[in-house]
Parts: sequence; C-alpha cells; structure tokens
Amino acid sequence: MTRPQPDRFLLAGVMGWPVMHSRSPMMHNYWLEKHGLAGRYLPLAIRPEHLAAALHALHPLGFAGVNITIPHKQEAMKIVHEVDALAKSIGAISCVLVRPDGSLAGTNNDCYGFIQAIRQEQPGWRPDSGPIAVIGAGGGSRAVCYGLAREGAREIRLVNRTFERAKEIAEGFGAPIRALRWDDRHEALDGAAMVVNTTSQGMVGNPALDLRLDKLPRSALAADIIYIPLETPFLAAARKRGNRTINGLGMLLNQARPAWKAWFGIEPEVTPELRAIVERTI
Ligand code: ATR
Repeated sequence: MTRPQPDRFLLAGVMGWPVMHSRSPMMHNYWLEKHGLAGRYLPLAIRPEHLAAALHALHPLGFAGVNITIPHKQEAMKIVHEVDALAKSIGAISCVLVRPDGSLAGTNNDCYGFIQAIRQEQPGWRPDSGPIAVIGAGGGSRAVCYGLAREGAREIRLVNRTFERAKEIAEGFGAPIRALRWDDRHEALDGAAMVVNTTSQGMVGNPALDLRLDKLPRSALAADIIYIPLETPFLAAARKRGNRTINGLGMLLNQARPAWKAWFGIEPEVTPELRAIVERTI
C-alpha cells in the first residue's frame, strides 16, 4: 500500500446497526488530523438487509475501506470477495479493504486488538500462566479465544448461555478450548489466571453479567471487551476484591491500527492523549 495521495479526500467508516454509540469516528478522525490528511471517517448505520448493497457501494463512492461491527461481522464475511486465513479461522471479519479493482478483502483485527491491549496495560501477564475462563461464545469471543490460544494459553474454559455455540468453537478451534455449561460458570473461575467477559451483559442498557467471583484467585486478571461503560459491574466487582482489570477500550483502540495500515499505509499511534479524548466522552 502506498502513502495516500495529497489530492485525494480519504474516506473510511464503520458499518453497524446501531452504530451511533461507536467511538471509532472520533479515533480515526483524530488520526486523520494528526497526520495532516484530508478525509473523513463516518458512522454508517446500515440495516442488515442493506449490508450487501452498502458494501458493494464502497468502491464507486471512493472509500478505502470500513470497519464492521455488531451485528454484521459474520454476514459481511459472506459478502466480501476474499477473506484471509485468520478471519476464516475466527469465523468473522472486523475490517474490509477496498482494492483498486473494486474487490473487497475481509480480515479480523479484533484478536490483535485484544492481545495488544493486554500487552500494553498488563505487560507482565502471560497467557500461559494458568487456566483462562472466557464467558460468551459470539463473534467477540471467537477473536478472544483465537488470540489467547495463539499466544500460548494452555487451558481455556469457555462458558456460554447457549452451550452449543461454545461447543462449536471448542470443536472448531480444538485444544486448548473446553466448552462448559452456563450453570458451571461460577466454578469455571476456580484457580483461573484470567477471566474475560465477551457477552453483552454489563454494556450500557443491559443487565450486569450474572457471575460470582468468589472462586476467582485475587491474582487473576479480569478483562471485559465492553467499553461503554468503561467499568462494567463485573469489572467493578473484580477491582473491589483486589483483582487487576482491563476494559474494552484498549481493544477498540488497538484493532484500529492495522485497519489504518491496510487502508492508508500508515500505522498510527495509540497515545495516552487519544485514549483520554475517547475516555472523556464515555
Ligand atoms: P458479538 O459478535 O459482539 O460477540 P453475539 O454474537 O451476539 O455478539 O454474542 C453475544 C454473546 O452474549 C453471546 O455469547 C450470548 O450468549 P448466547 O450465545 O446464549 O446468545 C451472550 N449473551 C447475550 N445475552 C445474554 C444473557 N442475557 N445472559 C448471558 N449471555 C448473554
């Protein structure tokens, strides 16, 4: 990818439904300004039935690409022309690149974002330091499980309300993932080095995650991929009993870096200033 032409107005965005809560436009427009580039990153509210038409319109409209968010991550994968091996393994795409010939290439940067956030915020933590409990088995969970397994996790206890979805991930990814029933979620924290919430529970407008932390060692790291609110009731409870915590903002900020690299040929920095700007709006 070559550096952007100064005479081109750069366009990118995020397709979701709903999408107006997304902090991605704030982050990407900050980077456009920081790099002195003329362009705009837009929130694109796309109804599920319009997803294919919207994606196919990106090339004629001059978009470099888009991020894909809830609920389109799995459907978009079926629409784009090419999906890389990583996204195929995860089973969802989070980013689309529009090629010069108009073809659409899909990839998944969520896994990179999640692992990179842990590296930045908890540099001493190692994925192979003990069992990891992952709550939830949707698209976000797939990226988290894949990333942790790739980083060397030796045991991932995957708990989901709908057991079959967890079983499907465990069968697809193989060792070290083991699917557990929803009733076993409290016990799944016994002796864990980390627990990650990937469900929608605790997000603004949703009830808190129903999870007892009494079996979780105080040395364990508690992570949530939610970033609105910054501290979910699950993270607040973990922090109050002495566990270290990570919220979903680091994942959001970091998954955007490879997207920029693909679209504009530049790898932007996740600075404390950018994090503070986004945090102030939550
Ligand atoms: P995403 O792609 O963002 O991960 P998703 O695929 O809709 O979104 O997954 C949402 C996750 O939250 C799933 O694990 C879902 O559990 P089910 O597979 O049983 O639907 C979980 N979830 C949603 N509502 C829940 C609830 N009330 N209690 C527990 N888990 C819930």
